[in-house]
Amino acid sequence: FYWIYFKIGQCSQFFSSNIVCDFLSLTALQVTGGNMTVVQGGTVVLPCKLTDTTEDLNQISWQRKTKERPRNENFFTIVQQAGPKFVNGEDLRFKFVGSMSDLNGSLQLSSVTLLDEGIYTCIFTLFPSGNHITEIPLNVLVPPVSSLKDNHPALGKEEVSLGTCTAAASKPPAQVKWVIGPLEGKVNAITSSTKHDNDTTTTVSSLLGVPTREINQRLVHCVITSAALSKEETLPFTIQKHGRLHGRQPMVSDNSWPQSAVRMEDATLQFLSMTSNLNGLYQCEASNTYGTKLGHLYVHVSSGEIRFDLVVVNVGWIEWVSVAKAHTSRPPVKFPAMSR
Ligand SMILES: *[C@@H]1O[C@H](CO)[C@@H](O)[C@H](O)[C@H]1NC(C)=O
Ligand SMILES: *[C@@H]1O[C@H](CO)[C@@H](O)[C@H](O)[C@H]1NC(C)=O
Ligand SMILES: *[C@@H]1O[C@H](CO)[C@@H](O)[C@H](O)[C@H]1NC(C)=O
Repeated sequence: FYWIYFKIGQCSQFFSSNIVCDFLSLTALQVTGGNMTVVQGGTVVLPCKLTDTTEDLNQISWQRKTKERPRNENFFTIVQQAGPKFVNGEDLRFKFVGSMSDLNGSLQLSSVTLLDEGIYTCIFTLFPSGNHITEIPLNVLVPPVSSLKDNHPALGKEEVSLGTCTAAASKPPAQVKWVIGPLEGKVNAITSSTKHDNDTTTTVSSLLGVPTREINQRLVHCVITSAALSKEETLPFTIQKHGRLHGRQPMVSDNSWPQSAVRMEDATLQFLSMTSNLNGLYQCEASNTYGTKLGHLYVHVSSGEIRFDLVVVNVGWIEWVSVAKAHTSRPPVKFPAMSR
């Protein structure tokens, strides 16, 4: 029997006829593995089972070729007497869960990371026929990190990005879409993706639209789907009102406010005449729900027609603005003209 079996194991060397080999393989032993997929952080069993043999099993060993260790190497062996042991360093995330007597070489890996992705080779060493192997590809999925950003669109009548929805570093790439309901045709989305060196992909989708009254306060949703997520993620997003600036009556901090020489329109203060009583320190106050900011400007009129914009930037969403000419005893300084 052993002599015949030996011939079966070596059939490709001894026989050139496929018919002979196919016939013999029907009765030959088999090592079965599998193609495994696991979500990063999870636990997976790398299956390996030997069937149809009555030979003696001397050893089960495992090799790996992964993102972290791109050269195939031995890392784990199981022998009947000594039990399981690590080769080339311990990695306690691996645990032998099979059984020598059942001819089951299965290995469990927990706390899987993307770097564990690769090919695992299970080897049964039998007497007398030698090594019998199977390869188990391990595929690691990485769920996206989802986020939503309100872009606080700037003033204007042009189409701008209202919000940005991001599914970062996902494997395989995530799908990002906007559910916009009745806003169909009024807003639209533009999506782009970037593949990183580690095989993950970041997908970004911007919601574009003209920030009008019509879309103000409308609720839309960003929906992220990925094979690495057990269910889709839905992020709600309320489109914020187009930030009109509302001018208030100028607050006069002293008697010097030159009423007839200025005109205020939204956040712009226009100087109508160029007289020296415009000279002084001007303060612009801009407020919104996030807070208040002040901006200061020294004005000195010498000659010609100049107009200054007194808008305070960097406050995000401006709801109202007030302008005041503050009393100052400081000498006027030359101001770089922002005429338009
Ligand atoms: C294993 O399965 C994954 C996902 O189903 C597939 O993408 C991959 O090609 C398979 N690999 C092999 C070697 O069969
Ligand atoms: C091998 O062992 C693993 C882990 O105990 C088990 O899940 C699997 O069912 C066994 N395989 C077979 C074919 O018995
Ligand atoms: C993959 O690379 C990206 C970009 O460098 C990084 O943000 C992400 O954390 C990496 N993911 C993993 C699982 O290493």
